[in-house]
Amino acid sequence: MSVICIANQKGGVGKTTTAAALAQGLSEHNKRVLLVDWDPQASLTISFGFTPDNLKLTCYDVLTSTIRNNGSRSIRDVTLPTSNPGIDLVPANIELSQAQLDLVNALTRELMLKEMLQPVRKAYDFILVDCLPSLSLMTINALSAADSVLIPLQADFLAMKGLALLLSTIIRVQERINPALEILGILFTMTNARTLHSREVIEVTKRAFGDRIRVFETTIPTSVRFKEAPAAGMSILTYAPRSDGAEAYRLFTEEVLHEKS
Ligand SMILES: Nc1ncnc2c1ncn2[C@@H]1O[C@H](COP(=O)(O)OP(=O)(O)OP(=O)(O)O)[C@@H](O)[C@H]1O
Ligand SMILES: [Mg+2]
Repeated sequence: MSVICIANQKGGVGKTTTAAALAQGLSEHNKRVLLVDWDPQASLTISFGFTPDNLKLTCYDVLTSTIRNNGSRSIRDVTLPTSNPGIDLVPANIELSQAQLDLVNALTRELMLKEMLQPVRKAYDFILVDCLPSLSLMTINALSAADSVLIPLQADFLAMKGLALLLSTIIRVQERINPALEILGILFTMTNARTLHSREVIEVTKRAFGDRIRVFETTIPTSVRFKEAPAAGMSILTYAPRSDGAEAYRLFTEEVLHEKS
């Protein structure tokens, strides 16, 4: 059993796409996966075909129950089945934007998500937490609950700039809260094999961090199919199963499984 948090404070780098595709990839290896939408934008929830505003219960209800310590809602109460029998989803909606404020006043405020996940840890092979784009207390909760953190990184120079800040946050969490936290690795997304720029950014990153942090061999190419898949309520692996993007995420899944077994 492994909890992987997918984090990068930069927006739009492929966190949610990676969460959905990795879940699908793992399920094709008969792994049971729980996806946790830890973002008030609820992109992951939407990409599975749900309408966040119509949901009666979301992870926010479990979070408030955990903060108040009244046991009124457990994670099982809010978990939804998806069209893939191997994947369950803990959904989110805009209410989760209140969580940051609620957490500030909570006792052991960094450990709320960890406590929330406790009852279902044994029920799944993988729990994937799709983080919001910030280094807030929400992300600290995800890093504190996780066994490892996966960093999707857009292969462009500006996107790379935030990496050092993310790594220093991870190190702080390792030192103070979760010494067992590992960096699973950096996954380059939205690459373009034809441009020199993509390749240069990957090389520069490997040179700067490669001795300390794994950079996955597989990179995810830029493709318009990625934008179409969520609208169809599917991950790229089911929407365009033979596309380069789907094949890349399958290879990436195998790298993750190799690392984790
Ligand atoms: N490899 C790719 N090629 C082309 N488009 C992609 C690729 N990966 C993701 N996208 C698209 O880029 C946009 C942002 O991706 P995604 O939502 O996965 O990023 P994110 O990091 O989760 O964003 P946020 O920080 O807002 O949560 C989406 O429209 C998605 O469909
Ligand atoms: Mg997202």
